[in-house]
Amino acid sequence: MLKKITSDQVCLGMYIHGFEGSWIDHPFWKARFLLQNPRDLGKIRDSAVTAVWIDSSKGLDCRAAAPAVASESPASSAATPAMSPAVVAAAPVAAPVAVAPSVKAPAAVRLGSCQQELAQAAEVSTHAKYQVARLFQDARLGKAIDLGEMDAVVEQISASVLRHPSAMISLTRLRTADEYTYIHSVSVCALMTAVARQMELSTAEVQAAGTAGLLHDVGKLLTPPEVLNKPGRLTDEEFSVMKRHPEQGVALLQEWQASAETIDVCRHHHEKFDGSGYPDGLAGTQISLLSRIAAVCDVYDAISSTRPYKTAWSPAESIRRMAEWTGHFDPQVFQAFVKTLGIYPIGSLVRLSTEQLAVVVDQHPDNLLTPKVRVFFSSRSRTPLPQRLLDLSRAPAGERILRRELPEEWGFRNLERLWQQA
Ligand SMILES: [Fe+2]
Repeated sequence: MLKKITSDQVCLGMYIHGFEGSWIDHPFWKARFLLQNPRDLGKIRDSAVTAVWIDSSKGLDCRAAAPAVASESPASSAATPAMSPAVVAAAPVAAPVAVAPSVKAPAAVRLGSCQQELAQAAEVSTHAKYQVARLFQDARLGKAIDLGEMDAVVEQISASVLRHPSAMISLTRLRTADEYTYIHSVSVCALMTAVARQMELSTAEVQAAGTAGLLHDVGKLLTPPEVLNKPGRLTDEEFSVMKRHPEQGVALLQEWQASAETIDVCRHHHEKFDGSGYPDGLAGTQISLLSRIAAVCDVYDAISSTRPYKTAWSPAESIRRMAEWTGHFDPQVFQAFVKTLGIYPIGSLVRLSTEQLAVVVDQHPDNLLTPKVRVFFSSRSRTPLPQRLLDLSRAPAGERILRRELPEEWGFRNLERLWQQA
């Protein structure tokens, strides 16, 4: 469906079909493309082009508040995903989150399945990990740091999250102990980008969230490795050494002339909503929105990925436990987080009403309770079944998820191959 909109209504994720007026006025050699790069969005806004044709069948529709210049059909509104009553109940109502009134970033384009995005997400993740590792190493060696180099990394991660919100997030849960800190940075960047989009923050705020996520733990490059990578619980003394990393990170980021948002998130990502966090014991909206988002994403990534001293909780188990930690997180941010990942995130082991076990392979865009799953095991006979893909939103009446299951209790290993394969 072709629609003509004003250039200030254009946002990331739209498919540009053409520009109104002379080709001299628009800044691109090609007129038809999927708009994924924030820089290209800026070029359109800064150009003399006043109106743009978009193809809503190939990208995001126009759902800006202002009416379109002309439209061949009414603009569609985005459906709100259904929310588990249990999760809602676990998250009391908080003060409204301040959302900037400027251009909202799209939640996701979902150009294909999670599995189709995995290969590209792996490439982006590997490159991003390398860049973060190099940043840490250069900083340790006292070399000059140019944070501008990180902008492209954040853009690539953001573009992957835009194509499919779960591919990068699911992939970065899998990591080795020696790459933990670097992948953690990449993962928190992806998670913060996805949650910021879910909360419909502006394009600029989504970018700020991604950069802050990538750099939030930079102070850990000054944490002694024997504390950082200790295979076991930290002593009180070691924990107080570890707790210095937010302030140490701030000192580094100020030296590197990082943005105010990045410095704020670095300092406050361990604050808790009830005021019991560190280093400043801030509470509620004293903590910036980006830092409240960082707090949720940082903890989720830490508990759902393999660490030097413990195996990971599954994605669904991680969310279940976080929902019980009253006072830790901003409830409104946590709800947005759950909407982003799903109540049964990709990779979750679930039991169906048919007494079959399945792994979640993709989310339904509008209903968190009916993801796509891969059925592979009979819980009744405890034997493998021929694998089959099942879209629970189209399943026969009565075929639904009964509950989440713990993979370790069933002795399952390498469930990853079940959600990674197409
Ligand atoms: Fe941290």
